[in-house]
Amino acid sequence: MNAFSLQNGQMHCEAVPLSAIAERFGTPCYVYSRAALESALDEYQQPLAEVDALVCYAVKANSNLALLKVFAQRGAGFDIVSLGELKRALAAGADPQKIVFSGVGKSAAEMAFALSTGILCFNVESAPELERLNEVAGSLGKRAPISLRVNPDVDAKTHPYISTGLKENKFGVAYEDAVSVYTQASRLANLEIVGIDCHIGSQLLDPAPFAEALTKLLQLIDQLAAKGITLRHIDLGGGLGIRYKDETEPTVKSYLQPLLASLKERGLKIVLEPGRRLVGNAGVLLTRIEFLKPGAVKNFAIVDAAMNDLARPALYDAWHDILAVAPRSGAALHWDVVGPICESGDFLGRDRALALAPGDLLAVMSAGAYGMAMSSNYNTRPRAAEVMVDGTQMQLVRRRETIEELYALESLLP
Ligand code: LLP
Repeated sequence: MNAFSLQNGQMHCEAVPLSAIAERFGTPCYVYSRAALESALDEYQQPLAEVDALVCYAVKANSNLALLKVFAQRGAGFDIVSLGELKRALAAGADPQKIVFSGVGKSAAEMAFALSTGILCFNVESAPELERLNEVAGSLGKRAPISLRVNPDVDAKTHPYISTGLKENKFGVAYEDAVSVYTQASRLANLEIVGIDCHIGSQLLDPAPFAEALTKLLQLIDQLAAKGITLRHIDLGGGLGIRYKDETEPTVKSYLQPLLASLKERGLKIVLEPGRRLVGNAGVLLTRIEFLKPGAVKNFAIVDAAMNDLARPALYDAWHDILAVAPRSGAALHWDVVGPICESGDFLGRDRALALAPGDLLAVMSAGAYGMAMSSNYNTRPRAAEVMVDGTQMQLVRRRETIEELYALESLLP
């Protein structure tokens, strides 16, 4: 669903004008639509309703507690990659039995805490991690439920920084080594093998690589069964892409179809870890124009949001649509929309045709995923506020930081 639309010449989130949010909470500010979050989760949960399946939202995409609670209340589980994300999920009301723990570098302390809460599964990424987990579980008198994250060596055809399923990536156990690492795991007394896992990359627009990875995982499952190692679940990770510009977004149904077809007979539970697809288009970054700086070669619109608020354009050259909250009639010029930070990489969008005036509000679209979650305090800029809209209601779900908070942890030398 599209929660952001023009109504009477003003962009709204659901029934709330973005201008009212800017007035009440200031800018820059992230705005999320509760209805869009719920409908994105429904797109996954509905086709899976008849089978044993668990949608574990990848917390890294957007870890705001209010947003996590929306998903937890609708039965979602969570994919976490750190103690911090685990504690957030629990604080938002997550059921530990619906949490999977991914990541290549889990510390002993993280393992111990996760074990004490009783999570569903550790997605183990290497043989040494198996050994560490076995030791930690033994010292607590527990058995750790595990999957191996297998690297199926398929090309996700996405940005190299967010492609994770190729041999050259640091993630997972090599496909060829998987059977022997599973055998090793089966000999460790404090581990319980429950599943298999892969995650091949992010922002995939072609569902074919998922089907390819699935086929390879199923072959592996058969090889393991022949050795007496049986699994309860298969976790295909996240990665389904969204429309930022004019991409054709694969439907969740088309992505799930091969999975449902080939798992029907097998009695395996399906676990998925979508991040971006659940939150990306449910959020925008709202910003106000400070100055317009037309020039001989380029026109700059200097806004109050910057690369510290939304790093994706600077980091991946990612494209986010930028729309006027109250579009003006009149001639559009081409603008580079840039922030106040002292770097040429500090842009939100380049060469955008817009009719602008100083003080106008702009919405940077599709900013719900990897926006706030990757923000920083660079240039000692307080991070943006976050607001959740629900119908006609707007609620502050994270207040803006104060400047004093930004250096409160530091001390002066005597
Ligand atoms: N599971 C695992 C193990 C992951 O590493 C990730 C994302 C996900 C699930 C969720 O993937 P998604 O459904 O969101 O594609 N910062 C980058 C994206 C990095 C993705 C990292 N891993 C960006 O802004 O595009």
